Amino acid sequence: MAVRSIVLMGDPRIFTVAEPVTEFNSAELDQLITDMEDTMAELNGVGLAAPQIGVSKRLVIFGSDHNLRYPDAPEVPKTVLINPVIKVLDENTDELWEGCLSIPGMRGLVARPTHIHYHGFDQYGNEIEREANGFHARVVQHECDHLDGILYPMRMEDLRYFGYEQALTR
Ligand code: NI
Repeated sequence: MAVRSIVLMGDPRIFTVAEPVTEFNSAELDQLITDMEDTMAELNGVGLAAPQIGVSKRLVIFGSDHNLRYPDAPEVPKTVLINPVIKVLDENTDELWEGCLSIPGMRGLVARPTHIHYHGFDQYGNEIEREANGFHARVVQHECDHLDGILYPMRMEDLRYFGYEQALTR
């Protein structure tokens, strides 16, 4: 069990474009994924990108059956996704209040495309290819944005809908 500390917004590492993973099926990669899973579970995250624990690699994990931070959200398959590529299938967007473990205590209303296709690899180098809608599509887009140094406030159009959780629930 290794819960790693989270790189927070403001740290230059969180804005860095991550490097592709070139070696699959390695002990080093397995250890990184285990640490990310432990860290995500400890913090009740629904997703985590490697740069958020200070590792500049194009690797994200996501998925949950029931999540404390998003109690009303539908199930998302537990996934390790490496070197992902997203294609937007429908430019229609919807809005949801997002949070991020690198921006603790805050939420923002973010519009994102509702229907995507994504492609990548698991830790063994097997291809993953899926279509996703709704919350699943949103989580994938949010996590993959981290690989390009993009945080959700950078996707927002109106920063009046960005704020502290305790103020927003009033
Ligand atoms: Ni995030």
